Amino acid sequence: MTNQTNNKAKALLDWVDARFPLSRMMKEHVTEYYAPKNFNFWYFFGSLALLVLVIQIVSGIFLTMNYKPDGNLNQYHLPAAFTAVEYIMRDVSGGWIIRYMHSTGASMFFIVVYLHMFRGLIYGSFKKPRELVWVCGALIFLALMAEAFMGYLLPWGQMSFWGAQVIINLFGAIPVIGPDLSTWIRGDFNVSDVTLNRFFALHVIAVPLVLVGLVVAHLIALHEVGSNNPDGVEIKKLKDENGIPLDGIPFHPYYTVKDILGVVVFLIVFCSIMFFAPEGGGYFLEAPNFDPANSLKTPAHIAPVWYFTPFYAILRAIPSFAGTQVWGVIGMGAAVILIALLPWLDRSPVKSVRYRNATFKTMLVLFLIAFIGLGILGAQVATDLRTEIAQSFTIFYFLFFLGMPIYTSPERPSLAAFKQQLRSRPLAALFAAGWVGGVMLIAVLVSIYDLYLLARLFFADPFQIQTLLIRVFSVLYMAFFFVGTLLNTKLNADQAVPERVTMSTTRQKIMFFVYAAITLAGAYLFANSI
Ligand code: HEM
Repeated sequence: MTNQTNNKAKALLDWVDARFPLSRMMKEHVTEYYAPKNFNFWYFFGSLALLVLVIQIVSGIFLTMNYKPDGNLNQYHLPAAFTAVEYIMRDVSGGWIIRYMHSTGASMFFIVVYLHMFRGLIYGSFKKPRELVWVCGALIFLALMAEAFMGYLLPWGQMSFWGAQVIINLFGAIPVIGPDLSTWIRGDFNVSDVTLNRFFALHVIAVPLVLVGLVVAHLIALHEVGSNNPDGVEIKKLKDENGIPLDGIPFHPYYTVKDILGVVVFLIVFCSIMFFAPEGGGYFLEAPNFDPANSLKTPAHIAPVWYFTPFYAILRAIPSFAGTQVWGVIGMGAAVILIALLPWLDRSPVKSVRYRNATFKTMLVLFLIAFIGLGILGAQVATDLRTEIAQSFTIFYFLFFLGMPIYTSPERPSLAAFKQQLRSRPLAALFAAGWVGGVMLIAVLVSIYDLYLLARLFFADPFQIQTLLIRVFSVLYMAFFFVGTLLNTKLNADQAVPERVTMSTTRQKIMFFVYAAITLAGAYLFANSI
């Protein structure tokens, strides 16, 4: 009987294989895809991102069955879209769980994707030959931000309405075309039912299609070049007589089974939030969004959802200049674009942070303090002190990326090297000199300004310890930046990378917790304690 069933299954598979490359695809991408054998927990987040994508699409389909994208008032004098969400929460059978699944899923998507990107950053997964994997990822991140932004308008609460108003108005700051562009995006002179309808269409079909397409491209590109790993060793370089990487193991069954562990832990966290704290402390679902949208009543404090706050803080930190606020918008856009350019900014031949020098590790920790700090500041009401801290953090954010070609370069910038390159590749030499000169000029100006602010502080009344702290921190940061970029000290010496992959040592594990503690303490000290 079993033999008969097996034969029938085999015949069916043969029939399919003769018409569609099913077995070949399974082999190429699953059973004979050789992944490095030293993956650690950071490698859970790719499959978890896929899981959340599926959760969002499935819960979204069921929400759409009962939601109405209608911003007009109904017989209860409430916007119909807002009432539709209340109807889903209270009257639709199982509606509440579907809605909380989707709203929790949105925040969990960003948590997972931020951790996934961070893994790429620390293990140098964006470097050759994975540049396109990274660029596809950066496009996914952009699409995800657009998807979340448009989805947030749909419940048509106060934050939905005013958040959309603020963000769409940003486009108005662009010279010449700005005002027309923001009217074109809204489809009206104010955020209205027209805006809600187009955002619904884009959120439900257009952007998800793009997202799924990009994810497929992301995985095809990854499987073409093979996965990186926590050691940053290219496993394809050492193969056995059958052409199988010596440090590779088949994705199935090894990682399919391992990923189940990640899925179980993730679902425990996901369900705990969904059942016990769906509002996520007011960060996943913001309090003003429990009031229907009202174009005549601006909430006291408009803040975007937590996953946008680092970029929002950068926007607020950059002051208007020459009579226009466009600089903040440019800064916010540049902050996202720089992420996509990482493969061309980082010049170190060493991939994994495990073997990278002290300069890189320190810059990384300072970048994280700045990024998390900006996230915390962006969620709060702006005060003078907070703006000042956000400005310093914005500078750290940009110097991390813009200074990278200098502080990650195996050779320090020197006149001799410049002269030599000028002869062989004049254009590249001039570009590099312009880049180094530009970044250094910015760094010198920032340092002078920092020192001036520090000196002025001593005459300030009242004297604030927080202000002193951030100024001293900024001055130390700049001093470190110059040492790390310009001097060829032991700080800049990378360690030797092993030929074969290794498991992390106890020392590496301890150092991970030390760095994490310093980062969180730093971000908390500057951004949250005020
Ligand atoms: C919907 C969002 C995303 C999904 C579903 C997704 C999925 C995946 C999966 C399944 C993998 C292989 C498993 C792993 O290495 O963890 C992977 C690898 C990778 N992803 Fe993503 N990804 C997403 C977003 C991003 C973003 C936003 C970036 C960066 C900007 C990114 C960069 C990378 C890189 C560099 C790798 C290769 C990692 C390595 O080999 O070390 N991904 N992704």
